[in-house]
Amino acid sequence: MDTKTVNILAIESSCDETSAAVIRDGKVLSNLIATQKVHEKYGGVVPELASRAHMQNIIPVVDVALKEAGVEKHDIQAVAFTQAPGLIGSLLVGACFAKAYAQALNVPLIAVHHMQAHVLAHFIDDPKPEFPFLCLTVSGGHTQVVLCRSHLDMEVLGETVDDAAGEAFDKVAKMLELPYPGGPMVDKNAQQGDPMKFKFPVTDMEGYDFSFSGIKTAVLYFLQAEKKKDPEFVQKNMNDICASVQYTIIKMLMNKLRRAAKELNIKHIGIAGGVSANSGLRKALQEEGEKNGWQVYIPAFQYCTDNAAMIGITGYYKYLKGEFADRSVSPTARASWT
Ligand code: KG4
Ligand code: ZN
Repeated sequence: MDTKTVNILAIESSCDETSAAVIRDGKVLSNLIATQKVHEKYGGVVPELASRAHMQNIIPVVDVALKEAGVEKHDIQAVAFTQAPGLIGSLLVGACFAKAYAQALNVPLIAVHHMQAHVLAHFIDDPKPEFPFLCLTVSGGHTQVVLCRSHLDMEVLGETVDDAAGEAFDKVAKMLELPYPGGPMVDKNAQQGDPMKFKFPVTDMEGYDFSFSGIKTAVLYFLQAEKKKDPEFVQKNMNDICASVQYTIIKMLMNKLRRAAKELNIKHIGIAGGVSANSGLRKALQEEGEKNGWQVYIPAFQYCTDNAAMIGITGYYKYLKGEFADRSVSPTARASWT
């Protein structure tokens, strides 16, 4: 094997996906994701069950990732893992595994921030964004407008002051008694609905911050009132409710992104994180891009929601800069990163 080749084994275990990937010189050779089905019947992620499922999944997932990549253990030059943020029990499983693996192979360990990795998912496939690059990162736990000056030089310009966009999707889905995880179900129903049928408030915060607690409460009161008049209201209007809620969330997201792009005069714009899998948001970004002359970037579906490939690509850029973690590194549930 070429001595300059860098193979990185990457581990992601921040929430309910156990994922392992092998990245060679910034290219994804494999990206395995084991989705934990155990949470479905609880309507949300149960932290202890997530940790236990990671414990069961991690070795088989890594084995298959190596096999699919055609890479042997001793060909790994570094191990990257999600250090923060996330569920602490889940993070601990991935961190302990990564540390033991790196120690056994005597290779460097790379600690990765999950939110930085969501942004760098844009650097997996071509075309890759040019800098400065503005990224709207929307996931189950975060909603951030991020200015990227280079791969590892990023600044969070604004973020949600309460719920994340994904949380708003999931909570509304729960009110509609849709199965977990709710975001993709709202998206699916919205495709058949009328986004103008029902009106919900569009919250506009100062600067580049967001707030999604208002729409959550508005939908709750709206449904309570309508169900009093007609107990079948939700069943009869499911698609229109989903379309109207989704339209409002996307409007709030796009308002901020448009303002940031204009004020900072940035033309390279992307979306990242689980909610960037949303068909309405993907379409809205394309349309906004055409209107404003932006070059828009949307990651492939498998790199939007949690995956180890994005941890591996971040690990690769850190490897090139020699940014290695001490063997005593420990995961943290919360951490700033810029
Ligand atoms: O990034 P991610 O996989 O995990 C976190 O880091 O949080 O994001 C998960 C979030 C969940 O709230 C899920 O409902 C949402 O992304 N999501 C979607 C869609 N696919 C995933 N929300 C709306 N439409 C979708 N198609
Ligand atoms: Zn995520």
